[in-house]
Order: sequence, then C-alpha cells, then structure tokens
Amino acid sequence: MKNTFDVSAVQADFPIFKRQIRGNNRLIYLDSGATSQKPLQVLDAEREFYTQHNAAAHRGAHQLAEEATELFEGARNKVAAFIGAKSDEVVFTKSATESINLVAYSFGNAVIGSPFHIKPGDRIVVSEMEHHANLIPWQELAKRTGAQLVWLSVTSEGRLDLSNIDEVINEKTKVVALTHQSNVLGTINPINEIAVRVKEVGAFFVLDACQSVPHFAIDVKQLKVDFVAFSGHKMLGPTGVGVLWGRQELLDEMPPFLTGGSMIETVTMESATYLPAPKRFEAGVPNMAQAVGLGAAVDYLSKIGMEQIHQHEMDLTQQAISGLTSIKGLQIVGPNNLEMRGGVISFTIDGVHPHDLGQALDQYGIAVRTGHHCAWPLTKKFKVVATTRASLYLYNSSADISELVSGVQRARDYFLER
Ligand SMILES: Cc1ncc(COP(=O)(O)O)c(C=O)c1O
Repeated sequence: MKNTFDVSAVQADFPIFKRQIRGNNRLIYLDSGATSQKPLQVLDAEREFYTQHNAAAHRGAHQLAEEATELFEGARNKVAAFIGAKSDEVVFTKSATESINLVAYSFGNAVIGSPFHIKPGDRIVVSEMEHHANLIPWQELAKRTGAQLVWLSVTSEGRLDLSNIDEVINEKTKVVALTHQSNVLGTINPINEIAVRVKEVGAFFVLDACQSVPHFAIDVKQLKVDFVAFSGHKMLGPTGVGVLWGRQELLDEMPPFLTGGSMIETVTMESATYLPAPKRFEAGVPNMAQAVGLGAAVDYLSKIGMEQIHQHEMDLTQQAISGLTSIKGLQIVGPNNLEMRGGVISFTIDGVHPHDLGQALDQYGIAVRTGHHCAWPLTKKFKVVATTRASLYLYNSSADISELVSGVQRARDYFLER
C-alpha cells in the first residue's frame, strides 16, 4: 500500500528548506543520519521555555522553577511514552555518546561483589559495525578493568555474522553492546534473537538505538535488552540532549557516572548517598530547554505516526536502491534489498573518490556525507577508503531521491567520461 502522508506539508514546517544552496539550488538534505533538521514546533518549544519559563528545574521555591520542573518532567513523560517506558527509566544525557559512556563508566565504578563489576577475564562483546560511540567506551572499559573485548563480525552482505554467536557470547560475557541499525550499512540487527543468547549467559545487553528510534516505532517492553541509548538531535530535537533508557531495577543499583548537585540524597563532608534513577544520573542543572525541545519533537513524530514515517522512508529507500544500482560501477555497501534495513544507503563508485562525489553533489544542493562515518573498522572491513552515504528522513520526497540519482549519475559521468 502506498503511503499517503503529505511530504510538502512536512517540509513546510522546516524553515531550513526555504534556503537556497550553492547558488539557487533547493536544499536536498540527505544527511539525517548525522543530524536531522528541526521543525518550527521544536524551535518554538525551546524559545518559549527560555522566554516564559526559564529557571533551574528541581531547585528554587518560585513559580518559574515550578514551571521549569513541570516542563522538564513533562518532556521525560513524553519520551517515556514514545518508547513504551516508565518515566523513571528515562535518563536525560547530553547525547547517545554520553548515554553509552554512562553505562560503561558506571560498570567500571562498580565494586567487587556488585552485579555490574567487571574483572580481568570477563568479556565485553561488540560488533564490527559499531559506530565509534559504541566501540571506544567499551575499549576503554576493557583497558581499565582487564576485560577482553571481542566482536561479532559482519558478512559481505553487511549483516551480523551470527554463525559463531555461542562462541563469541560465552559464559564469561558481562556486556553485549550492539547497534540496532547500522549508521553505514542501514542493516537492522535481529536484536531479540541475539538477546536469547545474551540472557542465557547472564550478560547485560546495551542497545545503540541512535538510528532506529528516530525512524520506526520502538517499544522497550518488547525489546529484550537492558539499556537503550539514543540522541535527540537525530529525531528532530535539539542538540545537547540524549536519552538512556534502562531497566529500573538496574538503574537504581548502578553506581553513578557524573557526580555533583541534584543527584544526592544526603551529604556530609566525607561522603554522600545518591537518589534513585533518573536523578542519580542527572548531576547538575539539567538541559531543560533541550529536553523540552525533544518533547516537542516526540509530539511531532507521534502526530504523524511512526508507522507512516517508516513506510515513507522504506518507499524512498526502495526508489534510491533501484535508481542507484542502475548506475555503472556503483556498489551499495550494505544490503541491497529492503529486508531488515532502513533508509541509510552507503555506496562507492569505481574510479570516483567519495569526497569528490560529495563535493560534486553539493554543487547541486544535495547534502550527503562522505568518509568512514565514525565506523572506521567497518570501512576497513569492506576494503574501501570511504563511502558516500545518503540518509533519509520523513521530510525527504521522491523528487529528492530522483535528484540524488541523477546527481550521482552526472557526477560520475563528469569524473569518468570527460
Ligand atoms: C549508530 C550511532 N551510534 C551513536 C552515534 C553517536 O551519536 P551522538 O553523536 O549524537 O552522541 C551515532 C551518530 O552518528 C550513530 O549513528
């Protein structure tokens, strides 16, 4: 069934689409995997917070502090409802990167005897398709604790190789940290299938949902993982706000990551006790305006409907894959069918450097990303120097994809057939 949602009505909510790029080209923004554009509704919510309600949430006895607290906690409720969570399970951080570091540092701070304690010989499992944000914190935790970092590999089609899952995720495994959807390949991983093995060995499962939560409906009650990390700025929200969802019973027991004001229960000169989650992990005056903006983003996405958004993106992905693969010498890096994949399409063209291609597309107003996309080991695995990546979102139209395909064709011909 073809999707019916009105892309031009969506685009009208985003002031940036009125801009002209490199002369008088309209903006064709295909870099939402890096960061999304923001609708007026989000910008207005942030502005209204500052112009009408600005005060430090959870502090102060005055009316503005009360309003700021209500708005901040209201944003938490919205985000929680969006992912099927309880509000106290939603921790606001500054980004997905910080959310993942929070878990890694908290585990690293756990003392012997704690269920979170990681010791020499324990295993931390990642995969070859991780963004650096879900790789480096685990490398560092392994270094600090003496644990061993091991990984699931990626097949030539760009899927996780699960043929040796029982060897990689073994009884020594303490943490498994995987991406839900690859930011390079577009692959969506079979999380609940992997979770069976993770639970069998009693490990904690951390999910990097940066590229999934913005694009399709997620219900943490259905996902058999323990932690989910994502960023506000990739889902129409402001920069400076991320989310860590964790199971309540885990969050309440985990050692804090950042310490300071607002996260304490009692304090003496020598020591302190800490509040339960989420406050335990939100030291200092929080990112209130950003959280409120994220709440507005969640309202915006929910009003359109995640099913609709997902269907629209899949229609565009289909169009992009069939258009791009008709170009001579072009290879998709990642699955070239729609099965378990999202709207992130990376590719190479024989004889054309991705950076040259990206620059040529920019001349036509088409914004794509080129490089290793913060997943350097994956780029090396595919034996390419870099790829060109088009990443889609709800505001992209079929016309955008046609322009991408003809832009890539034009650029290829310019470089190879002059
Ligand atoms: C899969 C994935 N994980 C983590 C991140 C890190 O997100 P942030 O930079 O917002 O912390 C990104 C950002 O590109 C990503 O795509």
